[in-house]
Amino acid sequence: MSQFRIIAKNFSSSSAVQNAIKNVTIIGGGLMGSGIAQVSAQAGQNVILVDVSSDVLEKAQKSITANLGRVAKKIYKDNPAEGEKFVKDSLAKIKTSTDPVAASKSADLVVEAIVENLGIKHELFKKLDAAAPPHAILASNTSSLSINKIFSVVSRKDKIGGLHFFNPVPVMRLLEVVRGAETSEGTYQTMMAWGKSVGKTCITCKDTPGFVVNRLLVPYIAEAVRLLERGDASARDIDIAMKLGAGYPMGPLELADYVGLDTNKFILDGWHQDYPDQPLFNPIPLLNKLVSEGKLGVKSGEGFYKYEKK
Ligand code: CAA
Ligand code: NAD
Repeated sequence: MSQFRIIAKNFSSSSAVQNAIKNVTIIGGGLMGSGIAQVSAQAGQNVILVDVSSDVLEKAQKSITANLGRVAKKIYKDNPAEGEKFVKDSLAKIKTSTDPVAASKSADLVVEAIVENLGIKHELFKKLDAAAPPHAILASNTSSLSINKIFSVVSRKDKIGGLHFFNPVPVMRLLEVVRGAETSEGTYQTMMAWGKSVGKTCITCKDTPGFVVNRLLVPYIAEAVRLLERGDASARDIDIAMKLGAGYPMGPLELADYVGLDTNKFILDGWHQDYPDQPLFNPIPLLNKLVSEGKLGVKSGEGFYKYEKK
């Protein structure tokens, strides 16, 4: 077995640059934005979390509080008072806002985590480019869109990039750092150092569809949906197969529900439009049907499975 062991490597960023980011503005307070806000606040940064909906922001604050509690329980299991202080101090670092322009005025870094739609991201980044200070880096957490296309509308093309986190953000240890065509070396190093400062192992990706993880993961999920659609196996059996036969923590259909069926559909539709000859990206009638019925997975209470509303 030993010949298969990978010789120890330092997987974390070798960047010698210290984290220079103190003020982070996160736009989008859903599944991903709330997690990015949490890990930034845990790292002691000043966070403004922005969403168009104040209900979403209220929900985000509740889930961040609960998830900080889980982290505190783990780190301070022998010292609950320190754990409570950690939760209180981290929460105090997070302000919320429904105004992206005002919230970006003092940002060193803006991370966008709104809906996966190029037009809507363009509208937002035009405003942010005008509002954020000249030194600020503008980044997107997009799952599938081209970083160069997203930032085609901004003038600071040397201070942009992709910062792709994974769900659930407080738990998943990877951050994909994506350079745009004109991203400067300084911006890239700052993004790598920031990623490390929020506890992530960073890898460097080119601006290719799905970067590394989603280029592998999304076609895998899509094939699982097609397997179900053809009636080759039940949802339960497909998920059991990949958990027990391949050692994955979740089966592909559970994972699709967890990521959000709408997000899976946005990704596939976008890639199908750009690469119509790639059969792996073809639309899937069953996925489209579930989304059209509002069955978006865990967040809506039903997808391939049913979930208790929290
Ligand atoms: N915040 C903080 N901690 C959390 C958490 C959260 N949101 N969710 C889970 N945890 C912690 C729990 O406290 C628990 O900690 P301990 O082990 O120390 O007690 C640990 O994580 C495991 O949680 P659970 O026991 O509740 O559940 P689990 O063992 O079933 O693990 C899981 C849950 C971590 C989500 C695991 O099932 C998993 O890794 N699933 C795969 C997730 C995945 O593949 N994510 C990538 C999706 S793709 C993507 O994100 C990219 C994209 O662009 C679409
Ligand atoms: P989500 O639907 O949970 O949250 C998106 C939030 O953005 C919503 O609360 C919505 O109200 C808000 N919003 C929409 N337009 C806005 C605007 N103009 N200004 C401010 N807020 C706005 O979505 P999510 O799953 O958090 O995904 C967000 C982004 O992260 C997408 O680009 C997605 O592809 C990417 N991503 C998702 C996952 C995942 O597993 N879900 C993983 C990695 C990356």
